[in-house]
Amino acid sequence: MASYEIEQHSFDVVVVGAGGAGLRATLGMAEQGLKTACVTKVFPTRSHTVAAQGGIAASLSNMGPDHWQWHMYDTVKGSDWLGDTDAMEYLAREAPKAVYELEHYGVPFSRTEEGTIYQRPFGGHTTEFGEGPPVQRTCAAADRTGHAMLHTLYGQSLKQKAEFYIEYFAIDLLMTDDGRCQGVLAWKLDDGTLHQFNAKMVVLATGGYGRAYFSATSAHTCTGDGNGMMARAGLPLQDMEFVQFHPTGIYGAGCLITEGARGEGGYLTNSEGERFMERYAPTYKDLASRDVVSRCMTMEIREGRGVGPNKDHIHLHLNHLPKEALQLRLPGISESARVFAGVDVTKEPIPVLPTVHYNMGGIPTNYWGEVLNADAENPTRTAPGLMAVGEAACASVHGANRLGSNSLIDLVVFGRAAAIRAGQIVDADAPVPVAPRASVDAAVARFDQTRHAGGAVPTAALRLEMQKTMQEDAAVFRTEKTLAEGCAKMADVAAKLDDIQVTDRSLIWNTDLMETLELQNLMPNALTTIVSAEARKESRGAHAHEDFPERDDKTWRKHTLAFVTGNRVQLDYRPVVTDPLTTLEDGGIDPKKIAPKARVY
Ligand code: FUM
Repeated sequence: MASYEIEQHSFDVVVVGAGGAGLRATLGMAEQGLKTACVTKVFPTRSHTVAAQGGIAASLSNMGPDHWQWHMYDTVKGSDWLGDTDAMEYLAREAPKAVYELEHYGVPFSRTEEGTIYQRPFGGHTTEFGEGPPVQRTCAAADRTGHAMLHTLYGQSLKQKAEFYIEYFAIDLLMTDDGRCQGVLAWKLDDGTLHQFNAKMVVLATGGYGRAYFSATSAHTCTGDGNGMMARAGLPLQDMEFVQFHPTGIYGAGCLITEGARGEGGYLTNSEGERFMERYAPTYKDLASRDVVSRCMTMEIREGRGVGPNKDHIHLHLNHLPKEALQLRLPGISESARVFAGVDVTKEPIPVLPTVHYNMGGIPTNYWGEVLNADAENPTRTAPGLMAVGEAACASVHGANRLGSNSLIDLVVFGRAAAIRAGQIVDADAPVPVAPRASVDAAVARFDQTRHAGGAVPTAALRLEMQKTMQEDAAVFRTEKTLAEGCAKMADVAAKLDDIQVTDRSLIWNTDLMETLELQNLMPNALTTIVSAEARKESRGAHAHEDFPERDDKTWRKHTLAFVTGNRVQLDYRPVVTDPLTTLEDGGIDPKKIAPKARVY
């Protein structure tokens, strides 16, 4: 093995990732007086949150009546009763506070005539516990809300003297033998040096793993790095079978066309020009929950009513909306449609197709962001020194299906919660422990072995094989056959990591090595997704199993836990949290309102 010098750093808290959740956590930690570093593989304002368009959900009631309990109800129903009730209450209750904080930090939200934050309708967000009309709950900065948030949170974090380590790739968690996290080892991409970040608390905010699939709205950087580190540390990943397909990815390119487009009055049609959502979801139509809309689009295509020469996509119409409204509210997607689909949205429909967009599953946490080292016998056991927030985490507020605009609010509510909790449990006056030598050696050895990998399978070829397998066998609709075949194929694909070929041995800007490390992270994400999906014999939220079309609460209202060893996955389960945080007497939601029932829109 080559010898490497390792530069030492010591912090109270190290946040890995600088998207919305990572930055909100970083800012909050620094505000708590904790010495905080943020380690990120891309420049903060280029993190994938920058692509979040439509907005952030909070019951501000700026554009009509709303209530946190309605938001909670919609989230419970959207999750298809797999979300943890305490976390969903926390999300809905804290959302308005978290959005006003953003406003005061400087996020340039769009405005109403009265000067309050502009809010638009989004799928699955309703009034009166699903009995009333759609609500305008999604706070927006035109269709560039994530972009606005990132810039503001980065500036505020710098103001609080958080330290940024930009273009550092986190290799592995540094764990003690008894399961405490004491830091992370990272590779500085522009000069090739290795860095040991010792910390009292590590926060994983590494985003999703959309790039395990062939076609995704996610950036190419969304490689599930934190989840990969968790799996290698022997810790579980939760509910990985639930992968969200966004109804409106641009056909071919996969880029996102925000649900805000339908919120502003856009609608979908099939080859007969029919607004088919009226048939499937008579009340909320194009504003039904996204898993529902994606399935309906797929059914229309399967039944021969897709548009285009191959009848393989759907049309999204905005051409009936006033030009000024498109300019004011949807400038970004008007440009995306022009660039990526060659469409002038004022005149023609946009060709769209359900596209992988979000991972409901991830690193199990409680609603304070503390990572759970859980199994069936220890469902709430925490992993000391380790937190996770954002899409990497599974709190679980989204359960089996996330509502649009509940992602951005998840990032800030739980980024903030993690900081509050760290303020309580991290002793800023105590010395920072140095991570165990053995864990550093193991991480360096893995890095070096990958750098010198001399196998026969190029990284790009293996990545493509994985992506095609996932796209085919863990799709919008799943069957016993496709899932079983997918599990077998993915086990073979993952085994080929042992025969990977890295041709560039250098340490500076070695994208060959970085993409291989990313593939090593993607692989456990893909494996756990397909194995967890194969095991779940029901349909719930985004997991639409054609051989088991009904939701089965008696057997399957439980979280999947997946542990990875090599190319094998072992499953366990833990119960869903069904108790809210607050009793009815103390002003909480009436439990009868959120009891499981059929999910119709
Ligand atoms: O459609 C969108 O703007 C995406 C929002 C989300 O995923 O929350």
